[in-house]
Amino acid sequence: MSRILITSALPYINGIKHLGNLVGSMLPADVYARFQRAKGHDVAYICATDEHGTPAELAAKKAGVPVADYCAEQHDIQAEAGRGFGLSFDHFGRSSSPTNHDLTQHFANQLIRNGFVDERMDRQVYSIADERFLPDRYVEGTCPNCKFEKARGDQCDNCGKLLDPVDLIDPYSAISGSRDIEVRETKHLYLLQSKLADEVRAWVDSHADWPQLTKSIAYKWLDEGLRDRSITRDLQWGVPVGREGFDGKVFYVWFDAPIEYIAATKEWDPEGWQRWWKTDEGADDTRYIQFMGKDNVAFHTVSFPCTLIGSREPWKKVDTLKTLNWLNWYGGKFSTSEGRGIFMDTALEISSPDNWRWYLMSNAPESDDTSFTLESFAGAVNKDLADVLGNLVNRVTRFAGSRFDGMVPDGGEWGEAEETLAAELDRRIKAYTDYLEAIEFRKAFAELRGIWVAGNEYLQTAAPWAAFKTDPAKAAVGVRTALNLVKIIAALSAPVIPFTSAKLQAIFGDPVETPAWPTGAAKDLLDTLPRGTAFNQPEVLVSKIEPEQIEEWAERFGAPRD
Ligand code: 2FM
Ligand code: ZN
Repeated sequence: MSRILITSALPYINGIKHLGNLVGSMLPADVYARFQRAKGHDVAYICATDEHGTPAELAAKKAGVPVADYCAEQHDIQAEAGRGFGLSFDHFGRSSSPTNHDLTQHFANQLIRNGFVDERMDRQVYSIADERFLPDRYVEGTCPNCKFEKARGDQCDNCGKLLDPVDLIDPYSAISGSRDIEVRETKHLYLLQSKLADEVRAWVDSHADWPQLTKSIAYKWLDEGLRDRSITRDLQWGVPVGREGFDGKVFYVWFDAPIEYIAATKEWDPEGWQRWWKTDEGADDTRYIQFMGKDNVAFHTVSFPCTLIGSREPWKKVDTLKTLNWLNWYGGKFSTSEGRGIFMDTALEISSPDNWRWYLMSNAPESDDTSFTLESFAGAVNKDLADVLGNLVNRVTRFAGSRFDGMVPDGGEWGEAEETLAAELDRRIKAYTDYLEAIEFRKAFAELRGIWVAGNEYLQTAAPWAAFKTDPAKAAVGVRTALNLVKIIAALSAPVIPFTSAKLQAIFGDPVETPAWPTGAAKDLLDTLPRGTAFNQPEVLVSKIEPEQIEEWAERFGAPRD
């Protein structure tokens, strides 16, 4: 048994997350955590809301509530949606927690003590009307390069040039539209990443096994030369810098957010958190896997490691990063600010969590961006879950219910059809397990589906309904084997469709959250149910999605129609 630490990128607090966010980190991390728990490992799956920064402040302002109240409320909403989807966080914390305040200040102090932080004077745009400094992307104006009139201060969306907001022509505040703005001097703390570049590079070099996408992003940053980075902001809401001359300043949201991985673990296990995070207290034996969207990779391969390395304390660093691409909304973008796409709360109003989980994970955007469409969602539910899995379970349980008095039949000899099924199962369970171990979800779930298909094919060949009158012993073997297969499938499917797994387990007894991972020879696995014992008829497993529903949803969510 090993210790496995799993973190999902922390969802921003401002608004319920969409399906793209869900499949980008929280859901794949959950599937992997469930799989590793089933294998008997000691797992910590940690997540939290990422609560600081300007967007949170502005969202609270828009909602007309104090930012602390806004965050508390939104945290509960996101936690509730996570529960609805069966996200099995061991702890779902908040980056605004006192624990994270303490740890963030601790890291900053260590970095200062070790000479990795400088105070520097910046020139930054201040909006008199908004009474605040404006983060780069909240200053807009005319691009000095292409003269586009709505260029953002950090980058021009028209010509793509990276900009400095003080270079914009006719700048104005994107918050209020006010042109009453000026450049003011303001003092900030800079993390001297340039001093840590060699150590970070050596650490990245030691991970030749990382996926190409991950490595190329990390090296791009390292090759461009790590720049010293301001880690404080002129904001009210955040972790106070707590240093003379820094009143009214807080740490930058990307400085404190990853530290919350540690803080949330500490909140979850106040006595034993060090064994997950301190290499001198057991974390040397911990395997640490992070899940995130591709836009987060640089922060996790370079910035956060700088914080950890620069502290000169023995912190555990990530072993494996699983990076997901984008799930697009009909080829366009899901958008929280524009409310485009389907969001976690409404998703659960219209369909079951497992329908979403199966669709999203079996089509996970792993090697490329993928497009969400309602039609492909309905296809996955109707074909895979209803026609293949549902059909297998219903056929065998109904037949066994009526012809074998709802008992696991005894008698009969193992024949060729069973041998063939067992051989295929041996092969596919191994492939499925290996793919999950390698965190390759699409390939993994193609194997799982293959197991469901194999079950249907077996039933077709064994045809117990045909044998029942002439050769009842053969019918008994067929039904018994298929029932055992359903039990195996209940365990194998649990990481991805836990609610359906519980219904399948309930056929044979009380369901558990984490059924043990099936190991050993398929021929033994296919004969574990005690013969002669009663089983229960399953609840409705999956309902098909009808064309009218697709039309209704398309209208409701503004899906493009062709
Ligand atoms: O991109 C995002 O959604 C960020 N909130 C992720 C933060 S991950 C971590 F480091 F906290
Ligand atoms: Zn431009």
